[in-house]
Amino acid sequence: MHIGPYELKNNLMLAPMAGVTDRPFRQLCKQLGAGLAVSEMVSSNSLLWGSAKTLRRANHEGEVEPKSVQIAGADPRMMAEAARHNVDNGAQIIDINMGCPAKKVCNVMAGSALLQDEDLVARILDAVVGAVDVPVTLKIRTGWDTTHRNGIRVARIAEQAGIRSLAVHGRTRACGYTGEAEYDTIRAIKQAVRIPVVANGDIRTPEKAREVLEHTGADAVMIGRAAQGRPWIFREIDHFLATGRHLPEPTVEEIRTIMLGHLHNLYDFYGEHTGVRVARKHISWYSKGQPGGSVFRDRVNRVESTAEQLALIDAFFDRLAAGAELAA
Ligand SMILES: Cc1cc2nc3c(=O)[nH]c(=O)nc-3n(C[C@H](O)[C@H](O)[C@H](O)COP(=O)(O)O)c2cc1C
Repeated sequence: MHIGPYELKNNLMLAPMAGVTDRPFRQLCKQLGAGLAVSEMVSSNSLLWGSAKTLRRANHEGEVEPKSVQIAGADPRMMAEAARHNVDNGAQIIDINMGCPAKKVCNVMAGSALLQDEDLVARILDAVVGAVDVPVTLKIRTGWDTTHRNGIRVARIAEQAGIRSLAVHGRTRACGYTGEAEYDTIRAIKQAVRIPVVANGDIRTPEKAREVLEHTGADAVMIGRAAQGRPWIFREIDHFLATGRHLPEPTVEEIRTIMLGHLHNLYDFYGEHTGVRVARKHISWYSKGQPGGSVFRDRVNRVESTAEQLALIDAFFDRLAAGAELAA
C-alpha cells in the first residue's frame, strides 16, 4: 500500500479518534503492527493553534513515519492554511475529516456534514491539495443519509482533486454509530475510482478484516474502536492475513508490560495531572472482560496520582497472574 511516496509496511491503519489517537497511542499501535496511524483531528481555526490541546495534538516528536495529521473544517481557505501549518510542524500526510458525525464538528458544517454539499467538498479538496506538497488523503462516510449515499460521487470528486487515498466508513452520517457498517457501498466506491480505498467500520477480528478486504476489494482496512485496549489487534490481523492462522492471545504478563509502557508514555506526554486522567479510559479498556475488572476500574477512577494508579494496576495484574497460574 502506497500513499504518495510512502510505502506502508502493511495495509492496516489505526482510525483517527479524537481523545484517543494521541501520540502515545499512535506510537504503540505502530509498534504493534499498524502500518499507519492517523492523528486526532486538528481544527482549521487558527485561533486554536496556540492552545495547549492543539499544540499537543500537533506534537509528533519521535513518531514512526509517515506522520499523518487530520484536519477538520468547512472553509477552503482556512483548511488550506491549516494544512500548510501542520506540514510546517512535521505532518507528512494531511488527512481531511469528512467522516466524523460529532455534534461539535457537524454544527459548524464540517466532518460528515460536508457530504451534503458536493460543490463545497470539491472546493475544500482543491484548496488543500493545492496548498501543500505532501499527499492529501480523505476520510468520508458512505453518504449523508441512507437515501443520499453519494459516496461514489464524492470519491470521484476526490480522485479528480488529487486525493491520494480515500478511507470510507461504511455508515451514513445519519446512522451515527448504530446498526452494522455496510460494505457494498465501499465495494462500489472501490470499483468507481483508481485511488487506494480503505475500508472502515466494525472490523473487530482478523476474520472480519479478511472478509471485508475480500468483499470490498479495498486496498487496506482501518480499525478504530477494536484497537481500544487491544492495540495488539494489528499484529494479530497482520499475522492472520499472511498465514491464515491466529497468533496466541497475549498473556497477562504481556498485557501488563504493554499497558505499563503505554501509561508511562501518557504520563510523560501529558504530565501527571492530565496523564492520570487520560490513562483512566485506556486502563478501563485494557481491563474490560477481566475478572474483578469493574471493582478495579471504580478504584482507578478515584485516584489522582501516577503512584496510586500504578500501585492499583500492579495489585490487579498480580491477582490476574496468580489466577492464570492456578488455571494453567
Ligand atoms: C471516540 C471516537 C472518536 C472519533 N474521532 C474521529 C475523528 O476525530 N475524525 C474522524 O475522521 N473520525 C473519528 N471517529 C470515527 C472513526 O475514525 C471510525 O471511522 C469509526 O469509529 C468506525 O470505525 P470502527 O468501527 O473501527 O471504530 C471517531 C470514533 C470514535 C469512537
